[in-house]
Amino acid sequence: MTNKQKVALITGVTGQDGSYLAELLLSEGHKVVGLRKRSSTVNTERIDHLYQDPQLASDFSLEYGDVSDMTSLMRVIAKHEPDEVYNLAAQSHVKISFENPSHTLDSIGHGSLFIYETVKSLGLIEKTRIYQASTSELFGGVNMPPKGYDETSRMVPMSPYGAAKQYGYTLARIYRDAYGMHISNGILFNHESPRRGKNFVTRKVAIGVAKIREDKNHCLYLGNLEAERDWGHAKDYVKGMTRILRATQPDDFVLATGKSVKIRHFVEQAFKASGEEIRWEGSKEDEVGILASGRVAVRIDPRYYRPLEVDRLKGNPEKARKILDWKAEISFEDLVKEMVEAELGS
Ligand code: GDD
Repeated sequence: MTNKQKVALITGVTGQDGSYLAELLLSEGHKVVGLRKRSSTVNTERIDHLYQDPQLASDFSLEYGDVSDMTSLMRVIAKHEPDEVYNLAAQSHVKISFENPSHTLDSIGHGSLFIYETVKSLGLIEKTRIYQASTSELFGGVNMPPKGYDETSRMVPMSPYGAAKQYGYTLARIYRDAYGMHISNGILFNHESPRRGKNFVTRKVAIGVAKIREDKNHCLYLGNLEAERDWGHAKDYVKGMTRILRATQPDDFVLATGKSVKIRHFVEQAFKASGEEIRWEGSKEDEVGILASGRVAVRIDPRYYRPLEVDRLKGNPEKARKILDWKAEISFEDLVKEMVEAELGS
């Protein structure tokens, strides 16, 4: 390790974004420390290739800890004195946050507060920059401007997840202004990849399309097909995270593609990527998706509906383009193709 080697701490390193971010930072020559939560099941599949690579042994390490436990943050941050902290840890599933609001608030609300407080208490304000994973869920899908939500749009979260994220977002601004800390919010719209968790809609659809091909009895059950999301590729978004953290001034940035599509369209595109066409018949809970052969491949299961739905999310990434020279490079079509092909090949 040279004296100049930067140290980055990633909370949530075992997740989709954490794993791509760790790869990126290691490729830039950073030393990366990942905070992992103890789990009774193995949860390191996305980073095993990094951990097991002997060439990275001195640059990539893991620490057990939990963002909702300040003692573990104190230990890890005092030990590594990171230059960069990326706070990605969260109970990140919006629907589950309705069923598990307290845990969601703990991991996101306390998680962000404890990170800001730990850096401050350890006297690392000058050294450590913090990236806070904020989200398009803050906007709640209401009063969307024609070009999409931007950093000035009103925030009206529609879930316990969104409310907890609003707390982390707002505290970032407060700690920035009150103590001069370099904390920036990345307000990221949906970003996907073959490493997406299996219970998010894009990965669920990709897996379902592959299973339908293998098993003639398999059917994909989904909730609301009418919602619209602005979907990019996670690889592009982790690049944006590093640019946000390294901007001279701490600030808030939207990362998005600027286009939104319905869930229904994602499903159509995913079948297309597997060489099938799907058409729709019926309405509401009786709607079905039918393949050219006449087989019913998609049905609606109201159990996947949410108590409150965010109907439309589209972001305006103009500020990130101007100040950070960032834009989403990977197209929606290529994203869907990559996700479906990964499942067909697995
Ligand atoms: N998960 C899921 N499962 N969603 C479904 C399903 C289903 O079977 N059927 C329809 N949907 C709809 C949901 O109702 C929602 O409108 C949309 O698909 C996307 O759901 P998710 O993939 O679960 O993602 P999300 O938009 O709620 O949240 C994700 O993106 C946020 C950024 O906007 C998560 O990654 C959040 O952590 C993130 O902040």
